[in-house]
Amino acid sequence: MKELKNYIKIHEKRFLDELFSLLRLPSVSADSKHKEDTIATSKFVAKSLRDAGCDLVEICETKGYPIVYAEKIIDKELPTILVYGHYDVQPADPLDLWDSNPFEPVIKKTEIHPEGAIFARGACDDKGQVFMHIKALEYMTSTNELPCNIKFMIEGEEEVGSENLSLFVNRNAEKLKNDVILISDTGMISQDTPSITTGLRGLSYVEVEVTGPNRDLHSGIYGGAVANPINILSKMIASLHDENNQITIPGFYDKVLNLSQQERDAMAEAPFSLKDYKESLGIEEVYGEKGYSTNERNAIRPTLDINGIWGGYTGEGAKTVIPSKAFAKISMRLVPNQNHHEITKLFQTHFENIAPKSVSVKVTPHHGGQSYITPTDNIGYQAASKAYEATFGRTPVPQRGGGSIPIVALFEEVLKSKTIMMGFGLDSDAIHSPNEHFGVFNFIRGIETIPLFYKYFTEMSQH
Ligand code: BES
Ligand code: MN
Ligand code: MN
Repeated sequence: MKELKNYIKIHEKRFLDELFSLLRLPSVSADSKHKEDTIATSKFVAKSLRDAGCDLVEICETKGYPIVYAEKIIDKELPTILVYGHYDVQPADPLDLWDSNPFEPVIKKTEIHPEGAIFARGACDDKGQVFMHIKALEYMTSTNELPCNIKFMIEGEEEVGSENLSLFVNRNAEKLKNDVILISDTGMISQDTPSITTGLRGLSYVEVEVTGPNRDLHSGIYGGAVANPINILSKMIASLHDENNQITIPGFYDKVLNLSQQERDAMAEAPFSLKDYKESLGIEEVYGEKGYSTNERNAIRPTLDINGIWGGYTGEGAKTVIPSKAFAKISMRLVPNQNHHEITKLFQTHFENIAPKSVSVKVTPHHGGQSYITPTDNIGYQAASKAYEATFGRTPVPQRGGGSIPIVALFEEVLKSKTIMMGFGLDSDAIHSPNEHFGVFNFIRGIETIPLFYKYFTEMSQH
């Protein structure tokens, strides 16, 4: 361990330089304008894995962006760890809210990151965290300390739903065979309270289109006499929650797996300050489903949120118009036992049912994914816990996360192995937002913690 710290110290500047080069590539999977950049990023990742000592590195083509697969097999009798991550990033928009260029990384000190944080799109989600794994591997191969076999699968379409990866996993189950899956694509509670994410929510994402008259109309000549699709859409959306902030779609909660009081009590023990939470977001009061705490609302309860809404005139000045159409993008976060296909159907039926005759509605499903829970009574979790204990000096807290990584449920289904989520980001790192960043401390701690996971997992597997 001393040597690892030393190794990091000697090479830290190079690690950061290399990560900066990776962050300079705008691999925005949602935006076809960045196609070449995204493909270039897959090559960069492949080269980094080769340089870090993998014996086999492949860039696997898909219908979308390539999947980078790499491995180093040292002994078939030893356990195999599969590392998953993604090299694609969210769009950087709105650009004017960034203090620096999202694709020109800079290190700046913040209150939470006094040692400095790397500001760039993807710094935390997920390039910085993938890079910790690559550098941890470099350390282990160059010092002959790799205790087990390792496989890497780094994809370029996580932020757009991982559809091509599903196909790849189904077709390559044998190749991807492993004893445990390790992901660093989540966060921890705080710099001095490490945590391991034990749950992810599922997702159903839909787009709706409401059509009224067959053309845009003068709002004086026609106003009041025909349905305005924006008015109607707003009403329909407002009706999707009741006075307790519960979702009104019939059947939405039918399959929700409720936590026992004991589990809820255990959750409530995790350190959390509502005051700091509100302060960090600049809000007077939180908001959500009646009868649940903030941490329950954002992790164990399903939700429905409008992600975007548009229609009519939004340019400068005023234009008097009743638009022909109105649109919204809607996400539903799902919890264990809710099936995302079923929920999408329920939404669609309900949305069509509540539309007045004066408009027509079209619901288009986008991507989705199932929720996932990692049990804590397995050696994967225990090895991770021991690794954090060694580097942070504290036992990590198990924590259900509110975000989604759609492929994880499929990993369990197809590859039959558990996924351990060792994330090193913080909620305040602003992933998906302007000024995303990742603490240099977190990056280094990650590189220190990962090899210990390999070591403990291998030891625990052999007993
Ligand atoms: N890394 C996140 C997921 C995440 C972040 C989980 C923090 C738990 C804590 C991932 O890249 C992500 O953003 N996923 C998307 C889903 C995807 C289908 C667009 C999400 O959760 O919105
Ligand atoms: Mn991610
Ligand atoms: Mn993301």
